[in-house]
Amino acid sequence: MEEKYSRVKELLEEYGQEQLLTNYEKLDVNKKNKLLDEILTINFNQIEKLYQNTKKEISFSQINLQPIPYVEKDKLSEEEREKYKKQGEELIKEGKYAVVTMAGGQGTRLSHNGPKGTYDLGLDSHKCLFEILCDTLKETYEKYGEYVPWYIMTSEENNDDTIKFFEKNNYFGYDKSKVKFFTQGQLPVIDEQGKILLNKEGLINKAADGHGGIFVAMRKNGIIYDMKARGIQWAFIGGVDNVLAKMVDPILAGIAKQKNVLVAGKSVVKACPEERVGVFCRKNEKPSVIEYSEISKELAESREQNGELTYGESHILCNLFNIEAIDEISKDKLPYHYAYKKIPYMNENGEIVNPEKPNAYKFEAFLFDAFESLEDMAIMRVKREEEFAPVKNAEGVDSPETARKLYQNFYNI
Ligand code: UD1
Repeated sequence: MEEKYSRVKELLEEYGQEQLLTNYEKLDVNKKNKLLDEILTINFNQIEKLYQNTKKEISFSQINLQPIPYVEKDKLSEEEREKYKKQGEELIKEGKYAVVTMAGGQGTRLSHNGPKGTYDLGLDSHKCLFEILCDTLKETYEKYGEYVPWYIMTSEENNDDTIKFFEKNNYFGYDKSKVKFFTQGQLPVIDEQGKILLNKEGLINKAADGHGGIFVAMRKNGIIYDMKARGIQWAFIGGVDNVLAKMVDPILAGIAKQKNVLVAGKSVVKACPEERVGVFCRKNEKPSVIEYSEISKELAESREQNGELTYGESHILCNLFNIEAIDEISKDKLPYHYAYKKIPYMNENGEIVNPEKPNAYKFEAFLFDAFESLEDMAIMRVKREEEFAPVKNAEGVDSPETARKLYQNFYNI
């Protein structure tokens, strides 16, 4: 271990990250070893680049931005609707359609202690987010006689708890053999000087690498292989927090097939310029999403002659991917965006600090950055009250209360 220690020390000196060993002597043997191993797996060049990026301003001036065309589900003719539906239904019945739920997040913003998917929405039935999503898959089984394969992406932080929860709840009555879990990646968090932080245990302080990490995680964990082996051609990828998500949507699949594109996404009309949703657009001719944290006030407020927002097709994290697109996208990492957050850490004196204001950067890839590698994609505008009821904040907008109301109205309960 001494040799390993010297190697690590040299490496840290080279990259100016010596602070990682200041509490080393206070750790027990197992943790000492673990810390050294963790350090050896860090890509310090990548961390340096990510830190430099936190200093760059995001500018859209060099970028040719345009609104993106979309199809409105409600305005399809009866004939079109039937045609798309039939095509999509064939895929489902033939076992070529799967669902992936991104559930790497914890319910921190909801003050829920556990995986976000285990959050009880407060309905009379006390169903949690996972069960609410599972209900729609059970409905699909009743309609088509097919248990759609369900892949659930967890994080290092919540994987064990998530699996235990499914076991305890007997997979909500779903076919257990069709459910598969896989874990997303992590990246170290750094402070304002670019120094990697230690966590409360004195090990490397890491955070989930964002839902854009899904493609690499699918490759690494054999999920792409598994899908191909099962003959799956299309995978719906969605978040865990939209209780009205229609994860199995034959019309969306039919549109993708008909338009001969590899990805199709759903949108709802953005409620107001300030709404905290990303919006679909074309960036240098390619499909893309501008995230709410990165859009300028001017762009967000820009309106067309008919009064609609120019960038008003909200991305609701409900997208359908062809397996070939997933395979291709997973070969490269997507860019990382940074978020400036309050992150507890162990300081150089071995004390735990719980910051009251943001103190550190975490890095996340966004799934929708993958769209820019596509020539084109199909967008289907759906009705908010039918398909978008996110549970994000403890109170106010997009809270359990608003989502519960939307859910109750839709299901008439
Ligand atoms: C997200 C979208 C935004 C979209 C909105 C719709 C991003 C960056 N933005 O915002 O464009 O309009 O949802 O509701 O995603 N997750 C993981 N692992 C991670 C991070 C997230 O599995 O590392 C999952 C979460 O569990 C959740 C979903 O991804 O199901 C959304 O993540 P969240 O961080 O809540 O995104 P928002 O900021 O709400």
